[in-house]
Amino acid sequence: MPADRDVTAQLNARGDVAVVVPAAGAGVRLGPGAPKALRLLDGEPLLVHAVRRLAAAASVRMIVVAAPPADVDAVLTLLTPVAPVTVVAGGADRQESVAAALAAVPDDVPIVLVHDAARCLTPPSVVERVAAAVRDGADAVIPVLPVVDTIKEVDAGETVLGTVDRAVLRAVQTPQGFRAPVLRAAHAAAADSHTDDAGAVEKLGTPVRCVPGSDLALKITRPIDLALATHLLTLPDPDAPQAAPPGA
Ligand code: C5P
Repeated sequence: MPADRDVTAQLNARGDVAVVVPAAGAGVRLGPGAPKALRLLDGEPLLVHAVRRLAAAASVRMIVVAAPPADVDAVLTLLTPVAPVTVVAGGADRQESVAAALAAVPDDVPIVLVHDAARCLTPPSVVERVAAAVRDGADAVIPVLPVVDTIKEVDAGETVLGTVDRAVLRAVQTPQGFRAPVLRAAHAAAADSHTDDAGAVEKLGTPVRCVPGSDLALKITRPIDLALATHLLTLPDPDAPQAAPPGA
């Protein structure tokens, strides 16, 4: 059986979630070097950090990674010691990579999450929060943070047109979660390219619910993000069980 159809690669057999991980981008904004998901953070590729945290989420039954086509075998070799994964060849853009990975998710998995490899420090608690909201009845769920900067709309000449009310804005992270048929329908219907999967679901008129995201789920895009992430790794694990206070 070819590696890209290894649907036996399971984590928790009783889990109800498949996570699709688009990891086939070049990462040009990060500067020259390996594909972004294979850049090193504290000596390990971003993708290894991401998959380790996904595999630690109790609901996750399987992980399907879309890798750069030239690196499918190398990515399978890299990830096999971390967690059982299925690896497929990614496409020309993020949307094609998600579609390729989604095609490897069996129909009996009710919930599909889509998670960017570049958000490699996302804690398992965010994965569980998104999955729980879908299990609770939402068709589509996104983790979000409030917007802290003042946001201006500008014209082509960089002259300000107006100030946007940030109270109604949210910064959107991944994993984004979906009832599996909703995500499949959105991908089948998507004519234009979209930067996140919830965007395609919105176009079908399906409501998308927000849940709290995490500062740790930042997207590693620019060199400064790598520096930040290196520091974040030194902080205590937010999902680690808290020690009982003395005398408790
Ligand atoms: O380029 P950007 O940072 O928006 O990419 C978001 C995610 O989509 C990254 O994890 C990247 O690896 C992935 N991607 C992909 N296939 C592409 C382009 C991007 O899987 N062709």
